Amino acid sequence: MKIIQITDTHLSGVDRGNVYGLNPAYRLKRAIKSINQFHADAAFIVITGDLADVASEGAYGVLLKIIKKSKIPIYPILGNHDMRDAFRKLFPEYFNGGFVQYVQEIEGRAFLFLDTLVEGERYGELCEKRLKWFKKALVKYRKQPLYIFMHHHPVDSGLYEMDVEADFRSKEAFWALVDKRKNIKHITFGHLHRIMHVSRGALSMHATRSTTFQVSYQPHEKLEYLTNRERPTYAVMTLEKDEMLRIHHHEYLDEKVYYEDGSRSQ
Ligand SMILES: [Fe+2]
Ligand SMILES: [Fe+2]
Repeated sequence: MKIIQITDTHLSGVDRGNVYGLNPAYRLKRAIKSINQFHADAAFIVITGDLADVASEGAYGVLLKIIKKSKIPIYPILGNHDMRDAFRKLFPEYFNGGFVQYVQEIEGRAFLFLDTLVEGERYGELCEKRLKWFKKALVKYRKQPLYIFMHHHPVDSGLYEMDVEADFRSKEAFWALVDKRKNIKHITFGHLHRIMHVSRGALSMHATRSTTFQVSYQPHEKLEYLTNRERPTYAVMTLEKDEMLRIHHHEYLDEKVYYEDGSRSQ
């Protein structure tokens, strides 16, 4: 089974509204076009939050318009830049108990989507209500392989701002629930605007680049949050029958191939 991750689309309310000098709508359109061309056999696309840069009905309208072009289902979750009320107007179907949290069961596997947004803050958390929902879902789907999708990173990233100001503040409660469930195979998150792979025992986790701007790798002591022009990626996650997971990060803005003599495809 194939799953595609897109993250941190940071759309603005107008089709051509730039963010850090880049056009988020154009970059998302290109991602969908590439996925339609090469991965129409995937089960779904997850967009792991920060759907909007400045949340508004207009920004979510741009999202809706672009994802309608996808040949496969799209499951979005929210990030720290998003707002539930504006999102609800166009995407009410993803709400569950007031939050964007839900489960999709596909081919015997459970895919669990979490809402870590604290409106107006960069950090994320799971409040008592969301933890309760999460705990119940983990019990319900305890007998099948389970995959979690969330915006904030549930482990330290090694990037100062992301670990101190924009961190996930429910780590203790989260891991108390997750550590004891051996059927949880992998956690996919966004928010970092970087490719990062990390593991905790047998559990693997990863993030991929934003479709818009990227964040530079800085040693932890450096306090700056610097963005750069690394090219956007989407992650192609392939799950084999024994739950072996393979992840490729694809730079979809440049799909030309080069030959030995240095010439390239069109
Ligand atoms: Fe983001
Ligand atoms: Fe974020």
